[in-house]
Amino acid sequence: MAKVSIEGAGKFSHHYPKVATIVTVHATGKDNAMAVAWHSSISANPPMYGVSIAPKRFTMELMLEAKEFGVNFMPIEKAELVASVGGISGREVDKFQRWGIEKDKPLKTSVPILRDAYACYECKLVDHTTYGDHVWVVGEILATHFEEELFTEGQALNLERVSPALFMGNELYTIPAKDNIRNLDRKVYGKR
Ligand SMILES: Cc1cc2nc3c(=O)[nH]c(=O)nc-3n(C[C@H](O)[C@H](O)[C@H](O)COP(=O)(O)O)c2cc1C
Repeated sequence: MAKVSIEGAGKFSHHYPKVATIVTVHATGKDNAMAVAWHSSISANPPMYGVSIAPKRFTMELMLEAKEFGVNFMPIEKAELVASVGGISGREVDKFQRWGIEKDKPLKTSVPILRDAYACYECKLVDHTTYGDHVWVVGEILATHFEEELFTEGQALNLERVSPALFMGNELYTIPAKDNIRNLDRKVYGKR
């Protein structure tokens, strides 16, 4: 099938799906949460994680103040919560109060750990750099919270037990196909 070639990034939706996260922060006595689809692992040792946040977000302001943030990985059942916290600013409303968002205690920071997340990283903000219209915020992971029974022994997410909310862009969400998992050992495949 022939590809269409265009200049630039078009609707910039070709890199989806991405697991939808909710980034949380606590600063000046206030909790806030926003949906974040642009995020990535950066380093394993020390463990580092990055999130891409537009400078106008209230969360950005609070993150710079608190110098820490949480990255909460959400199941598809909570996709509506993702859309909700991604649909209004914490400058206008207390999102935790409006949607009765439950939280657990953090281990090393003051970031809210969402009870409905299947996993959450607590990060200390170590760097931030503006690229285009977003700020790439880098955090060192100080603690991890995860629902042990939703992971395999090798700590891979068990898709028989949980479906992460995959964001497709354009306000669309889906789930991964569970029946299609293949174990492709890179040591074997690298030598084929
Ligand atoms: C699924 C989804 C993903 C989003 N991803 C991002 C993102 O990666 N970076 C960003 O700056 N905003 C993203 N947004 C928009 C923010 O979540 C939204 O503007 C939010 O209301 C900001 O809240 P705040 O002002 O309280 O920080 C996303 C929204 C949705 C619904």
